[in-house]
Amino acid sequence: MAWVTLNRPEKRNAMNPTLNRRMHGVLDELEDDERCGVLVLTGAGTSFSAGMDLKEYFRETEAKGHIAIRRAQRDAYGWWRRLRWFEKPTIAMVNGWCFGGAFAPLFSCDLAIAAEEAQFGLSEINWGILPGGNVTKVVAELLSRREAMYYTLTGDTFDGRQAAEMKLVNRAVPLSELRETVRQLADKLLEKNPATLKAAKDALKRVTEMTVDASEDYLVVRQESLNYLDSSDGRKEGIRQFIDEKSYKPGLGAYDRSKSES
Ligand code: ACO
Repeated sequence: MAWVTLNRPEKRNAMNPTLNRRMHGVLDELEDDERCGVLVLTGAGTSFSAGMDLKEYFRETEAKGHIAIRRAQRDAYGWWRRLRWFEKPTIAMVNGWCFGGAFAPLFSCDLAIAAEEAQFGLSEINWGILPGGNVTKVVAELLSRREAMYYTLTGDTFDGRQAAEMKLVNRAVPLSELRETVRQLADKLLEKNPATLKAAKDALKRVTEMTVDASEDYLVVRQESLNYLDSSDGRKEGIRQFIDEKSYKPGLGAYDRSKSES
């Protein structure tokens, strides 16, 4: 597994153009690295991320004109999109402050675990913009209409425990247990067939935008493409170990991939 740490603690890991550009390279490298079966995104120090860098991403970029603005947006939105469709499962480990633009990579991650002590906020309203960078879409997708509107309009902060109650993250644990909790979750994912994990997570994201009939069809085709992509023929091995070998129970855990890997 790979721990990716947003590393500007002195600026509370605010995302500046340099960080955003660098993240493309990081994702490229990890996607192609067999040692990375799960990616965990977190932040150095007391923050997950304090959102966009107000000085470098906004003020200094705006001073350079609209081409520079578009380029900065492309770099930021681009790595969040790359993360959203990353080849391996991804977990956001929210260790502290999580503001504004930071909701975008939070959403991009398939799963999210927060420290109970973490503080979240849509602070855009406090300094005079709407939550762009698709953050408005993110909260509309993840929160109830009432919660999304409340936090968009007030900019009030909420903690990790509240974030879990609102389903913005899967669960919240004390900060002292955060890393171990995430590690255990990653270990669980690492037991599964990696080709199936990618197909399953993409399918879940895609079907939300489809009609029932289109989704039914898509899932058949996606499974058939998985049969082609999974060189270990995992589904046949999974059935064999249960029905013939009786060595595991699919209801209770994953089959032993070491017996089938090519
Ligand atoms: N952009 C640029 N610089 C930032 C940002 C940011 N988003 N967040 C923190 N910093 C800088 C501060 O300017 C300060 O720099 P300096 O040491 O050179 O003066 C340094 O990081 C430390 O920040 P403090 O405010 O001193 O740290 P503190 O721990 O007291 O507070 C907090 C942390 C609450 C996160 C505070 O920094 C803050 O409110 N940051 C802005 C949060 C925000 O609204 N982000 C934008 C969201 S909207 C969007 O992303 C589109």
